[in-house]
Amino acid sequence: MAGAALGQIWVRKLFPVPWLLCGPRRYASSSFKAADLQLEMTQKPHKKPEPGDTLVFGKTFTDHMLMVEWTDSKGWSQPRIQPFQNLSLHPACSALHYSLQLFEGMKAFRGSDQQVRLFRPWLNMDRMLRSALRLCLPSFDKAELLECIRRLVEVDKDWVPDSPGASLYVRPFFIGNEPSLGVARSTRALLLVILSPVGSYFPGDALNPVSLLADPAFVRAWVGGVGDCKLGGNYGPTVFVQQEAKNKGCEQVLWLYGPDHQLTEVGTMNIFVYWTHKDGALELVTPALDGIILPGVVRQSLLDMARTWREFQVVEGKITMKDFLRALDEGRVLEVFGSGTACQVCPVNRILYQGKDFHIPTMENGPELILRFHKELKAIQYGGKAHEWMLPV
Ligand SMILES: Cc1ncc(COP(=O)(O)O)c(C=O)c1O
Repeated sequence: MAGAALGQIWVRKLFPVPWLLCGPRRYASSSFKAADLQLEMTQKPHKKPEPGDTLVFGKTFTDHMLMVEWTDSKGWSQPRIQPFQNLSLHPACSALHYSLQLFEGMKAFRGSDQQVRLFRPWLNMDRMLRSALRLCLPSFDKAELLECIRRLVEVDKDWVPDSPGASLYVRPFFIGNEPSLGVARSTRALLLVILSPVGSYFPGDALNPVSLLADPAFVRAWVGGVGDCKLGGNYGPTVFVQQEAKNKGCEQVLWLYGPDHQLTEVGTMNIFVYWTHKDGALELVTPALDGIILPGVVRQSLLDMARTWREFQVVEGKITMKDFLRALDEGRVLEVFGSGTACQVCPVNRILYQGKDFHIPTMENGPELILRFHKELKAIQYGGKAHEWMLPV
């Protein structure tokens, strides 16, 4: 006992402030911890949307947000859940000038048992950390961030809508906050999470198909680039192309790549083709994760589900416009669709390519597979049962 006490006195003499032993600095360079969360509840709660209200995507926000600061010298600070508020940023903030910015998107659903659950948030945490490392933003413990997000959703859980198809969209984002105009690794960063209740993408359950502009003059991502990370810089330049699509009477962009015009993604969705392959086999195919494709959570979920059914081939591989148009011409294309958190699964009925409109018979074919995916996903997300893909809040 006496030896231990003496040891403590010796340590205190060496380190007058025992920062190694207590307080937020004990994990200066590794990660913030959910156990250190500080909670400041709003004094001015906002009116929550009513069940019948139309919720336009991303325009309504809940009462609270999560914020964690990082500096090179002090490491991560304690995570805070605080009232939703504006940020104060230095005008030279590196996120504003050089797009040192990344984000995520996932959803929390209110099950038929009223329990709120997050859909496969672990995959979003994996993707977010990969995006952060690609931007030289600091690492964090994915489990700790997820627990902070779970707590935030818990605080605002009354904002999770209870109407069919509605959900709470969770938007984590992470920015370099260097107050300097040099293009360099940021020595300051801010990690935030905001929440937005969203309505059904397909109101009344009517699956509205979309038309696509496929123009090889525009490229979303390239080999050696960052198309597989969810960086804000990947999205800003797409607004112009989206506008081009609108001008040409199409709703979204089909992103092509390479001299053989490979189909890569649809707007902000992964793309799937359900067809009879030229060798005669029924097949569901989506582009492989070769660096230019964003590894979508819904993409992975559709692949996982379809593989458990064992009813047709499930392939991650190349789809070129030439092969696709030949299959279309030969009546082998059954359904074409996009997948993403916003819509889950979205049918495609027309592609404008090289000045010609190609009708895609997705809707004429049921769309059997799309409806099945929707049904299975809904059962998992709203079913009111525990499922390994759902994290209870
Ligand atoms: C370019 C792109 N592809 C695919 C997706 C679909 O990903 P997820 O299924 O994780 O929403 C998104 C949306 O996040 C996206 O922005």
